[in-house]
This record gives sequence, structure tokens and C-alpha cells, in this order.
Amino acid sequence: MSVPVPELADRADACAERLLDADRVLLASHIDADGLTSAAVAATALRRAGIRFETVFKKQLDAHEVESIAMRGYDTVLFTDFGSGQLDAIVEHEDAGEFTPVVADHHQPADAETEFHLNPLLFGIDGASELSGAGAAYVLARALGERTSPATDGGTAAAGAPPEHDATANRDLAALAVVGAVGDMQASGGALHGANEGIVAEGVEAGVLEEAKDLAVYGKQTRELPKLLEYATDVFVPGISNSQSGAIEFLDGLDVDCRSGSEWKRWVDLTESERQTVASALVRRAIQRGVPASKVERLVGTSYTLTAEPEGTELRDASEFSTLLNATARYDRADVGLAVCLGDRGGGLERARELLSNHRRNLSEGLQWVKRSGVTSEEHLQWFDAEDRIKETIVGIVAGMAVGSDGVDRGTPILAFARKNDEETKVSARGTHTLVRAGLDLSRVMGEASETVGGKGGGHDVAAGATIPAGREREFVEVADRIVGEQLG
Ligand code: C5P
Ligand code: C5P
Ligand code: C5P
Ligand code: ZN
Repeated sequence: MSVPVPELADRADACAERLLDADRVLLASHIDADGLTSAAVAATALRRAGIRFETVFKKQLDAHEVESIAMRGYDTVLFTDFGSGQLDAIVEHEDAGEFTPVVADHHQPADAETEFHLNPLLFGIDGASELSGAGAAYVLARALGERTSPATDGGTAAAGAPPEHDATANRDLAALAVVGAVGDMQASGGALHGANEGIVAEGVEAGVLEEAKDLAVYGKQTRELPKLLEYATDVFVPGISNSQSGAIEFLDGLDVDCRSGSEWKRWVDLTESERQTVASALVRRAIQRGVPASKVERLVGTSYTLTAEPEGTELRDASEFSTLLNATARYDRADVGLAVCLGDRGGGLERARELLSNHRRNLSEGLQWVKRSGVTSEEHLQWFDAEDRIKETIVGIVAGMAVGSDGVDRGTPILAFARKNDEETKVSARGTHTLVRAGLDLSRVMGEASETVGGKGGGHDVAAGATIPAGREREFVEVADRIVGEQLG
């Protein structure tokens, strides 16, 4: 690949060799879109390599969960989309001879090291924007494939050449890796970059992906046109965003047939030139209504299409696919999301769609609650406490969606609290890449502030989280506010 750093590929080779030596493997992964796609990429590569394995998902890896993994008695454990941040706890079990860890992750590593640790951050690649957990799993899958897949050319390699293996095996898994990266919001500024771009290129070459400049709104595959525009509020177009009648009037005023019979078409039902007509008219309207040029630009971005999936389904668009996955695993149904990633287009997909409508309702109700009740501003950050009104597994998504809406400042990091149980509170933190460039590192903020109040946290510079004892929220805000002030000072 354009894996820009050879050391990353070397590390992947070592991890692949170790997995091939294992009798059987326990695959452990995280419960969001990136964690699910990481697991699906790894599971497919393990299966193709003939390695026996079992899969488990965890909401959050901590010392207790690592312990429960050790208790299962596997000699080899493959962690995907987490593990780096808990390497200290993991290494204790390794040192006790309980299991050998293989870690493919992109989170900020804890202060510990182990031999089979594949993480872009170790090689100068940004784990928050250039490679996701699924991307790390993909790099590993390539290495496994290169060692085990029979050559497709019938083995014409000359004597002395490497064994007859397919050097392009597992490249079809690039599609899932892209869904993971998009699910982790790595497509900042509208497109994927860095190592992610290399994965996209391989997916295109393998015939499983297409990238195109397109309208950058959510729901191009599945939403009827009026809803597509009405719900597109990221770049707020006055008179259309949040206005069903406005969106319909706008569409009816165009020289494009947006209906087929009595039904509205979706974006995918339009021809290329019809799409251009609608997009240009939308941009023109935004400019007329005084939307600043920097925002108007964000109406257009790169879309990633999974070409093997049927048109008009959630699975065809990387962004919609990732939301479908979040709708499963963040509600204790990782099994459903994994099944869909692995090709279940029957009962699994049907169940995932039911979960999606529930997830959408929760996101929309959560967002409305935040907008109604507002956020509290400190000197350097803003926060809200949803208590038990928003599920702790989605409070971070809601916080991210709230940024930029009325009363929620884009120029300040946001913290969001939600009750986990009687004893514990979940904190999610979200920033922007602009703030990161100015010095913000939310992973450190969450780590240090949670430690002060007896909790634990970590993540990425731009998005992080923590678990803290219930009742210590205000104290946590004070400490976090001070640290953010120091970072941006
Ligand atoms: O655990 P994991 O790395 O998968 O979580 C990353 C989280 O950070 C995702 O929920 C993603 O939406 C969020 N994120 C964000 N903005 C970014 C990068 C990541 O909100 N620019
Ligand atoms: O759920 P997920 O984090 O994947 O959502 C990514 C983005 O997609 C959200 O920030 C939001 O802007 C958009 N989205 C949406 N409507 C939904 C779900 C997600 O507009 N029902
Ligand atoms: O849950 P949320 O989407 O807010 O998580 C944001 C990031 O923070 C994720 O990468 C997650 O793995 C990390 N996190 C963490 N420790 C926690 C909670 C979240 O490292 N206790
Ligand atoms: Zn991730």
C-alpha cells in the first residue's frame, strides 16, 4: 500500500506470524462502528487463513475486562480498536504467562510496550485522522493474506522467489476499513487522508469502492429528497434546513423531476446531471441567504460508495453503513452488526434496520434535549449533563452533533456526562481539528482529569472519553477546564 511507513508493515508481518502460530485465537473488539468493522476485517482474515477463533465485544476495556478475557483461557488474544490504551493492564497478564496479546489499535498507548503491537501512533501516523482501528486491522489482514492465500496465477514464480502466495489477498476488506474510518469521523474536511487514502486506493483497485465528489449530506442512499435536505443541518441553509415545506418548495422550483409517480426520489435515483443541478442550486441558495463561503464549501465532499452493495441501501454508503453499525453494537447487539459486516443480508440486516430506527429516534431526541436545555460555559470548555436522559453509549455522538448548533460554540471543546449506573458516570469529550492544531489533546485531558477524581479515561486528541465515580462531575469539569486552558494557553 501506500502504507507510508514500512515499519508499520513490518510490525504487521510480525503480528501475522504470531497469529499463524496460534492454535486458536480470542478476538476482542470495541462496540462502535470502527470496532465492529475492525472485528469483521480481522475475523474474515483469520477465517481465510484457517485460524480458529472466537469473538467477544466490550463497551470499554479496563483492568477488570482484561481480567475476564484472561479467564477464558486462550493462549493468544487479538485486540482490535482497543488495547493500546490499556496496554499496562494487558502486559501484566502477558508477564504472568496467561496469554500473548496481539494488538491492532489506533488509540493513544498507555505507558507500556509489547512485541505484537500494531498502532499507527508508534510510527508517526495520526491515529485520530489517518488510520482507524479497522485500518490497523486491515494492515494486519493484508499481512495475513500475503502469507496464506494461494496464488491466483497458478504459481508461475521463478525459483528463489517468495512462495506462491497472492500478494493482493484480502484487499476486498478495504471497504469495511473505510466504513470504520468514516464511522470514527476521520473524514475531516470532507475526505479521508493519510494512510486512509492508501486504503481507499486499494479498495478502488480491488473493485469494492468508489470515491466521488458529491453533496456532503447524510442519507444520499436512503432518504427521500425533501428529508435529505430538511435534515441536513450541518451547514444550515436558511429556508431549507429544518423546514419540510421549504425543502419541498425548493425542489419543486427546480427543473428536475424529483418524483416518480406519487413517490419522492432519493439522491441515488437522480441522474448525474440532475444531481449537479440540485447541488448547484443549493449552493446558490446558501450564498444568497448569507451563509459564509467557508461553510458553503462544506456542502460538497467526498463520498465513499461500496460498489458491491445494492443501490439505495444503507450498506452502499460508508457513512450510512457506519451509522447502521452504531445502531447495533451501542445497544448491546454487536452480534447483529458483525453479522451484517460478514454478509448477512437477510434476518441480520432486517434486525439492524429496526435498531437503526430506534437509534435515530434516540439521537434526535437527545439532540433536541441538548438544544432545549443548553450547555454551561466555563472559561475554556462547555458541558452538559444528560444524567439518564441520553444513553451513555451514544452521548458522545450527540455531543458531536450538537457542536455548531445554536448556543453550542464550535470554537470550544465540549464535555458531555451521562449516567452509567448508580456508581459511575460516563464522560465524552469532543473537539475540532482546529483546536487540536492549537494544542488541544482531549485524550490527556480525559486521562488526567479522571485520574484526579478516581476514574479512568483516554482516546484521541480530538475525541476522548472517561468513566468517573458518580457525584464527582463538577470537580471533573474544574480540573478539565484548567488543563484545556493550559493546552490552549
Ligand atoms: O473509540 P473510537 O476511537 O472508535 O471513537 C472515536 C470517536 O471519536 C467516534 O465516536 C467519533 O465519532 C469521534 N470523533 C469525532 N470527531 C473527530 C474524530 C473522532 O467526534 N474528528
Ligand atoms: O451515528 P454516527 O456517529 O455514525 O453519525 C455520523 C453523522 O451522521 C452524525 O454526526 C450526523 O451528522 C449524521 N447522522 C444524521 N442522521 C442520522 C444519523 C447520523 O444526520 N440519523
Ligand atoms: O464513548 P465515546 O465515543 O465518547 O469515546 C470517545 C473516545 O474515547 C473513544 O476513542 C473511546 O475509546 C475513548 N474512551 C476511553 N476511555 C473511556 C471512555 C472512552 O479511552 N473510559
Ligand atoms: Zn476506533
